[in-house]
Amino acid sequence: MDIKIAPSILSADFSRLGGELMAIEKAGADWLHLDVMDGNFVPNLTFGAPIIKSLRPHSKLPFDVHLMVNNPDRLLEDYVNAGADHITFHIENEVDTITLLETIRSLGCKAGISIKPSTMPDSIKPLLPHLDLVLVMTVEPGFGGQAYMPTMEQKIRDIRSMVNNQEKPIHLVIDGGITPQTAPHAIAAGADVLVAGNAIFNHNDNYQAAIDALRNQ
Ligand code: DX5
Ligand code: ZN
Repeated sequence: MDIKIAPSILSADFSRLGGELMAIEKAGADWLHLDVMDGNFVPNLTFGAPIIKSLRPHSKLPFDVHLMVNNPDRLLEDYVNAGADHITFHIENEVDTITLLETIRSLGCKAGISIKPSTMPDSIKPLLPHLDLVLVMTVEPGFGGQAYMPTMEQKIRDIRSMVNNQEKPIHLVIDGGITPQTAPHAIAAGADVLVAGNAIFNHNDNYQAAIDALRNQ
């Protein structure tokens, strides 16, 4: 399978994000993963639409926005106008999930659902016709640099067989603790997109080698 790598800028040097974006694009990244956290749905606080908008001119990569916020239905158009290409929110949010997925699509973006480690995979079944991607968390959302949870691999396998039964392709994205050691396990379980923060941005001497080490397992 063609594996895509989505560096998460959560681990980038925030004092020079424009340069970081150009460097990872040159190094062969496929998507740019942007973690929006509100200090409420998760304990950490990151950035929102204005910063995404200011980054847009610095990259041609698809902007893969991962909303870890309460009320993901608010400010949706701001993320679209800022240049998001994919918008993913959490199934644990108390919203009308199908309506929100279809709203995201109607605004011209790909729509994704993310599931936390404690959420069962069957919960996404009714959503499958409305999904362009599923993002499986292999750490508790909130922080970069945590350890990959191998116990999530059965969930990845279950979701891989669900998405394979769909007419339209759905990406299976894995987020959290991806390293050259854990990537092959996530890929073997069925991942086709790997999000990675620390495993890429901790190697600012050679981003291309760091990306290649995740992809070529
Ligand atoms: C965590 C975020 C991840 C994070 C991954 O809540 O969703 O995208 O940046 O970082 P690493 O790859 O360092 O685990
Ligand atoms: Zn993320």
